[in-house]
Amino acid sequence: MTLPGAPFLAYRGQDLFMDDLSLNDLAREHGTPLYVYSRRAMLAALAPYQKALQGRPHLVCFAVKSNSNLAVLQTFARAGCGFDIVSGGELERVLAAGGDAGKVVFSGVGKSRREMKQGLEAGVRCFNVESTAELEVLSEVATQIGRTARVSLRVNPDVDAGTHPYISTGLKGNKFGVAHEVAVATYQRAAQLPGIEVVGIDCHIGSQITEIAPYLDALDRVLDLVEAIEATGVTLHHLDLGGGLGITYTDETPPAADVLIAQLLAKIDARGHGHREIVFEPGRSLVGNAGVLLTEVMFLKPGEQKNFCVVDAAMNDLMRPALYEAFMGIVNTRRREGATEVWDVVGPVCESGDWLGRDRQLSVQPGDVLAVLSAGAYGMTMASNYNTRGRAAEVMVDGSQAWVIREREVPADLFKHEHLLPN
Ligand code: LLP
Repeated sequence: MTLPGAPFLAYRGQDLFMDDLSLNDLAREHGTPLYVYSRRAMLAALAPYQKALQGRPHLVCFAVKSNSNLAVLQTFARAGCGFDIVSGGELERVLAAGGDAGKVVFSGVGKSRREMKQGLEAGVRCFNVESTAELEVLSEVATQIGRTARVSLRVNPDVDAGTHPYISTGLKGNKFGVAHEVAVATYQRAAQLPGIEVVGIDCHIGSQITEIAPYLDALDRVLDLVEAIEATGVTLHHLDLGGGLGITYTDETPPAADVLIAQLLAKIDARGHGHREIVFEPGRSLVGNAGVLLTEVMFLKPGEQKNFCVVDAAMNDLMRPALYEAFMGIVNTRRREGATEVWDVVGPVCESGDWLGRDRQLSVQPGDVLAVLSAGAYGMTMASNYNTRGRAAEVMVDGSQAWVIREREVPADLFKHEHLLPN
């Protein structure tokens, strides 16, 4: 069986390895729940983006929300990436990790004045603006501090990315982007505002997209807009096509990034837009399959209707199953001989929604360490402290080296900003 994450994740004999390290050993050494990422897998996922874009002006902006650990950001910064951020906090992380503000695109539907100012002062490359109201406030903030905000409008191409409704963003009914019909007028407004310099256009139609067609449809609609906007005398330098490329969690077969990009570039060139700088904002496809969440089996609780395998990771550590009913592969880090049984893998949190996997064929015993696969994206970044559970530790591996890149939280960390009332 090829695991999502191969070749960086594979069994050697009975033991599951990431790069050259046994995950079972890492769990024993660092405790569980534990996120483990492969630096090699991240860089291998980036390579097809860079290769496909080689020879033309481009920027790959890693979507920080998918995995914001400083060491992960540092890895992508060193590889030449820019970053797609959605908050002032993410900007601080990028800078702390050695990222270049000049390669940052600032996305998000609700940037505060404080965040706008922070982005302007840091010198971010571009604000991806989502409404006229935001444009006006941004212009005001920029003028007040004597700066100009470079801006791209996020347009909503109204295409169906065919993904989960919570992560589909390019349809009319979504809160995201400037509607296609008003985009030209909004660009004209932007061009008049004193604190704004129009530099590009962007779209992002959703996440975990496994087909090329929605991207090509969105691109056609965006290029139509580019032509209409430039006909009014506004020049657009870059074309930002967002992120969204899916990964294999179970049996999905998303296109490879270079295949997708080749088709997009062919259309861009065929329509006479080949001179523009191309920006992408991938998150999941760079880190999703580069990470696993390790969790120890605490108790087995066979029942009449269901068998429960109670593990020490929970919905607070990994929210995707509870929130989206997302399927994430689960395997034993040490293969057992003998029959498998069907288990619901559940955590200790007091909610019925606290499950990591349902109806999984597993051969398990208490004390075994399970790996939840494809957990490198939207795992740790969505973790919470529900039930006063400290967040997991994180480890980065590369070959036979491993570094702790985040310490496990202890309860005192969780209430250190709280205060008792006076007598
Ligand atoms: N750019 C923008 C403007 C975005 O909103 C997103 C993700 C990305 C780029 C990166 O998309 P990616 O390449 O990772 O698909 N928590 C959900 C996913 C939410 C995605 C939100 N936006 C999940 O766990 O599936």
